[in-house]
This record gives sequence, structure tokens and C-alpha cells, in this order.
Amino acid sequence: MAQVDQEVRAYLDEMKKVFKEKFGKDAERSYFSPGRVNLIGEHTDYNGGHVFPCAISLGTYAVVADRADMETRVYSVNLADAGVIEFPMTGLVYEKAKNWANYFMGVVDVFEKAGHKAGHGFDIVIHGTLPGGAGLSSSASLEVLMSVILNETFGFGLDMLEMVKLSQKAENQFVGVNCGIMDQFAVGMGKKDCAMLLDCNTLQYRYSKIALADASIVITNTNKPHSLASSAYNVRRAQCEHALNELKEVKPELNALGELSNEAFNQIAGAISEPLERQRARHAVYENNRTLEAVDALEKNDVEKFGKLMNESHFSLRDDYDVTGKELDTLAEIAWQIPGVIGSRMTGAGFGGSTVSLVKNDAIEQFKKTVAEGYTKKIGYAPSFYVANISEGTHRIE
Ligand code: GLA
Repeated sequence: MAQVDQEVRAYLDEMKKVFKEKFGKDAERSYFSPGRVNLIGEHTDYNGGHVFPCAISLGTYAVVADRADMETRVYSVNLADAGVIEFPMTGLVYEKAKNWANYFMGVVDVFEKAGHKAGHGFDIVIHGTLPGGAGLSSSASLEVLMSVILNETFGFGLDMLEMVKLSQKAENQFVGVNCGIMDQFAVGMGKKDCAMLLDCNTLQYRYSKIALADASIVITNTNKPHSLASSAYNVRRAQCEHALNELKEVKPELNALGELSNEAFNQIAGAISEPLERQRARHAVYENNRTLEAVDALEKNDVEKFGKLMNESHFSLRDDYDVTGKELDTLAEIAWQIPGVIGSRMTGAGFGGSTVSLVKNDAIEQFKKTVAEGYTKKIGYAPSFYVANISEGTHRIE
């Protein structure tokens, strides 16, 4: 089992104390489920393209004990106001009032429907270190966490990829957010110091070591209050699907936008009747090919090229896909001017959330200062910074 460092020890000790207060008994085991940051390959997953995310050491800790009955009680130390939330382990439906527990409930429900029925409930205390709304997949972190707890407790014998797929299903069918597979995949399959190149069309993947000699991955959170990201997200998905259907009229063998080279796309792009949809599809195609080029550059130690392609990814998400908005654009524009910034782009769904930047270690302090000042002046409130450590996927700690 993984070694626990001091910081984690402190979280777990505090959570165990809270557990005893809330549930009047001791917690039996503990887990960690990471968040994720995507380095490049945005809005490509549901278009059958490639993504290049990694799991990060910010995530969700859980301390857990079994119960003898079919009830589950959960409590988050971050959301004390929500109190202890209870739900049964069978026959679940989405209930807004159950707040964040819906992510757990969704997983219990899709497991049950897939024939993996829970034998009893749990008492669970969680502590999240992921900032909410930062676009770092706090929901996928919770979903894969519950999948691992169920699988381990009841011996369902599922491998991580199966749990990833069920977790995505919970988000799609129970929570009602039509996301692709990237987030749950990155959270579940993460590997220390590695990003994952995943082909979302075939689910083939490989790990790629991130060994940045003198630079770090810096996440900058816009701290933008919650936006209507999920409806705009679904609109982008529908636009790409429609564009794909029109392309199929001239190229019937085409299954996904991610199958096209830029040249092949340009030859048939005229078949997409709406200029806006042509633009959306162009992003999906170009971003997919850019991702492959970027990973190739990184694996050849051409970090500068990787950074340039990160910047180009942001341009495309801003101009063709229109998912950046003034907060993310402001962060990226300031970052691009700072010496020592290798590349900077929005990460995740967009519309708010965070940027990811590769920054030379000796420039990080200046980066934080300059970005914080410029952003606060223009937007009216401050951003937050996290230097990311690349973590293992969801796992039992002790
Ligand atoms: C969100 C979704 C992912 C992916 C990204 C955009 O994070 O959950 O499936 O589509 O947006 O790349």
C-alpha cells in the first residue's frame, strides 16, 4: 500500500476524528482519488480523437467503514453545510437535494444496473483538495472513488477500465452530463509522473513519462463563479455530431472526426453546410492532430514545440470552438508574455475553470505575481495557483 506523507497523514487523522464524531465509530480504511489536468487534446474525446491528461495529487480523500444495512451516510468536511447525506444502496434516482452525493449514488445505480449489486451500505467522510469549479474533474474523482470502494468491498473483480466506463456512465445517465471519457479515464488510470495518450475512438492508450528537467506544470484557476458550462458543452457536442453526419454523406466510411488528417478534412469540409459547425469540426480535427504532434515532440524532448502547440490549442479553442471566455483568455494572454513560460492554454471544458501552463522553475514566482496582478486588474478578483504533481490513479491508501 502507498506510503503516506505528512500532509496526507494530517488529512486522514482529521477525517478519522470527524468520522468518529459523526458516526460514533472508527473508520476502517482510506482511499485517495485524484483530479486531472489535461495537457493537450481538448474537446476531442467525444469526437473520437486523442487526449493527453495526467492525474494530479489534488483530489478526494475518503475514510470508510462498512454498515450492516443497505443505507449509506456520507459527509464532506469541505461542505459542512450540506451535513450528513443519506441514501439507500438500491433503486436510486437523481435528487438535487442530495447535492454532491449524487456522484456516489450514480455509481451505485449504474453498478446495480450492470448486475454488480452492493451487499450493504457505508459510512464515509471525504475531504476534497480540488478547488470546486476549477475544471479539474472533482466529479470524476468522486465517481471513480465510489467505483473502487464498491469493487473492492464486494469483490466484483472489475478492472480499472471497466470502472472508468461505469463511472462515465454514472455521469452521463444519472447526473445527466454528457461528458466524454477523458476525465474518468485520467482519474482511474493515472500513473505517477506520466501523462496518458488515449485514443478515445479505440480506447488504446500508452503512458508517456513527463520529465521536465527545469520546468513545472502550473494550474491557474480563474475562480470564475459557476457558469452554464454543461449546456454550452452539450451544444458543442451536438454541432460536432451534425457536422460529422454531413461529412458522412461524402465519406460514408467515416466514423469520427478524430479519424481525419487536416488535409483530408479540408478537402471535404465544404460538405458541412453551417459555417459555425465547420469551425467546430475544424477544431476537433486540428486539435486531435495537434495532440499527436505535441506528444511526439515531448517524447523527443522538444518541450519548446510542445509549448507552442499548447498555445495553438488555446487559439483554436478560442477562435473555432469558442469555449474560452474573457477570464481564460486573460490568463493565457498574460502568461504568453512572461519569459520562462513555455506554453499556456485553457484545460478541461472551458467557459471558466483553469489554464495549464508549462513554466520554467526559476520563473514560477514571477509568473504568479504577474498573472495575479494583471488578471485581478482586468477581471476584478484574483486567480489561484497550484503547481501540479502527477499522481497515481484512484487507490486504497490504508
Ligand atoms: C470535460 C469533459 C471531458 C472533455 C473535456 C473537454 O472535462 O468531462 O469529457 O470533453 O471537457 O476536453
